[in-house]
Amino acid sequence: MGLRKKIKKFLYTRKFSKKNYLANINKKNILITGANSGIGLALTKKILQLDNKVLATYRQNSENLKIIKDKNLSIVKYDQREINESKDFKEKIKETSIDIIFNCAGVFGGSFEDQQIENLDFRKFQEVLMVNSISILKIMQIILDNKLPEKNLEVLVNISSDAGSIKLNNQGNAYIYRTSKTALNSITKNMSLDLNTRFKTVVFAIDPGNVQSGMNPEGKIKADVCVNLIIDLLSSNVQSLNGKFINLLGKEISW
Ligand SMILES: NC(=O)c1ccc[n+]([C@@H]2O[C@H](COP(=O)([O-])OP(=O)(O)OC[C@H]3O[C@@H](n4cnc5c(N)ncnc54)[C@H](OP(=O)(O)O)[C@@H]3O)[C@@H](O)[C@H]2O)c1
Repeated sequence: MGLRKKIKKFLYTRKFSKKNYLANINKKNILITGANSGIGLALTKKILQLDNKVLATYRQNSENLKIIKDKNLSIVKYDQREINESKDFKEKIKETSIDIIFNCAGVFGGSFEDQQIENLDFRKFQEVLMVNSISILKIMQIILDNKLPEKNLEVLVNISSDAGSIKLNNQGNAYIYRTSKTALNSITKNMSLDLNTRFKTVVFAIDPGNVQSGMNPEGKIKADVCVNLIIDLLSSNVQSLNGKFINLLGKEISW
């Protein structure tokens, strides 16, 4: 890595390393999607450390989850491309009420070249929309269908991306990814009105920044740094985040 890149990486990392960590998420039932890698895996580990129960979902491989030996962790396969309900996921949801959801599952949708208009594979496009955006509605449908109204969902966090911001787009690329995250943002805003009115659920979207993960191996900040900041955000005045699209420092991003 060249000196200029190293300095850039250092400054970027420092920006996200300064905040205090004051977690008070404790004894909650927490659903984490896309939990076998990256941000979802780091969140799973951190949230278990804070003495919560985690229901972690994975697409295909669960090897990173299986080696976590913790009685408070249950795992279930849920391929979010599926428009039909996952029986296993539905069964798991029936067993518990969920207090908090971290919706981390996501895919980029192919290379930048694959996402040029000339090369778009529309079947793939549909799948990415299902995984990155629409499946959170399916998950909520399953949870609401579960009829455990004695305890409402408290918080829903959608891990989005600034690539979904229409205002910030100054590049004209990545049609699949950008569309899917813009759709997720729209769903987030809508849910923040709907679910907050009906159940007082706080719903917001986060851009996690440039994080080292399966999707982004060259990312500039480590997933555990990102996750500490996300937990920090939930541990302060979470009510004030309803309906917002924010970065890891809680600063609002244009939709
Ligand atoms: N890393 C960044 O810099 C960055 C920046 C902006 C936004 N984000 C967002 O952050 C979220 C987490 O991504 P990450 O960076 O942690 O990358 P990651 O390590 O690739 O994690 C994404 C997770 O989503 C899962 N997933 C993919 N397809 C799925 C499907 N069909 N059904 C269910 N789960 C599926 C993956 O499972 P498999 O491992 O089995 O594929 C993986 O566990 C994503 O929504 C991403 O768009 C990341």
